[in-house]
Amino acid sequence: MAFRVAVLISGTGTNLQALLDQLHEPGGAIEIVGVASSRADAAGLERASAAGVESAAFAIADHPDRAERDRALGDWLEGRAVDLVVLAGFMELLSAEFIGRFAGRIVNVHPSLLPAFPGLRAIEQAVEHGVKVIGVTVHFVDEGVDSGAIVLQEALDLPYPARIAEIEERVHGVEHRLLPRAVRLIAAGRVRPDPANPRAVLTDDVD
Ligand code: GRF
Repeated sequence: MAFRVAVLISGTGTNLQALLDQLHEPGGAIEIVGVASSRADAAGLERASAAGVESAAFAIADHPDRAERDRALGDWLEGRAVDLVVLAGFMELLSAEFIGRFAGRIVNVHPSLLPAFPGLRAIEQAVEHGVKVIGVTVHFVDEGVDSGAIVLQEALDLPYPARIAEIEERVHGVEHRLLPRAVRLIAAGRVRPDPANPRAVLTDDVD
């Protein structure tokens, strides 16, 4: 049976595109069964429709509050029987209730070597700090900000003078490889959260 993945976005959706291109196989091992956006005007929604994947927008403004929006989003995802929720540029925090509902079944891609530079503007934070190495992290999502157990990380050198647009492009290149690889490992049961240690994953991926 297919491993059913939903992708949550807020913007351009290049990571969504990487998942669609590299993993999505209707009737195959991994299927992207839904794309949900926090904004109705997210460009990534068009990528979903071009791939024939159902999508919907869940803007907080269309619901009484964030908790209700997250409940509606959770119902939509459960209605699609998703095995994994992938946050791919989803720029909003999710309620503790939502995280609990999909415990151990949410991953996020973040443009830094966590735990360095969590939150917004991670690349800018890294440049302002003057670090020589930046990177990408894919991690399980817990109730904190970019704080869950790490699935995969990859570093890249940060040359100076640093031009943000150029760095973003290189970081995206890494993300577009790392995120699909992480989802593939999770789908194959080769990486999962360690129930005994919230900081760790159980894995047989030794590359
Ligand atoms: C990515 O850099 C991701 O790490 C961050 O938001 C960006 C989303 O880019 N969380 P895109 O929408 O996938 O192009």
